[in-house]
Amino acid sequence: MSSPAPQPDSSRRRFLARQLRWLLAGTLTALSLPLLRFAGFTVKPKPRYVTVSKKLLPGSVHTEHDFLLFVAGTGARAVSRHCTHLGCRVNFRKELGIIECPCHQSQFSPEGARLAGPAQKNLATFPVRVLKDDQGTTTGYEVTL
Ligand code: FES
Repeated sequence: MSSPAPQPDSSRRRFLARQLRWLLAGTLTALSLPLLRFAGFTVKPKPRYVTVSKKLLPGSVHTEHDFLLFVAGTGARAVSRHCTHLGCRVNFRKELGIIECPCHQSQFSPEGARLAGPAQKNLATFPVRVLKDDQGTTTGYEVTL
């Protein structure tokens, strides 16, 4: 008594079904990878350059819409005006020598370090490039936001 030989037709169907499953799995993987990459993809914003086209005296503060520009004897620094608490626009209070938020009175040092208030983080700072003419005289400042 010998066992019945496998039907060639059913063997071919199993082979084709297995090939079809692999093809389907490969297609789904190929389609899902770009979608997963897109879902986790964050576009790094392009840097924005703001030019302040005037020479500021050492110790002075220049206020722009997005930053405060502090000029010292050796250079300049820019501090964001976006409060780290809820995003109100902060102001420099010259009489106190601090940056203060008008919304909930968070206070920051001129370097942007948090001093008091509900804000928990320091203000952001931005790189500043001092612009000079051919003679080396300061003509302005370029802040990279
Ligand atoms: S938004 Fe600035 S302290 Fe609340």
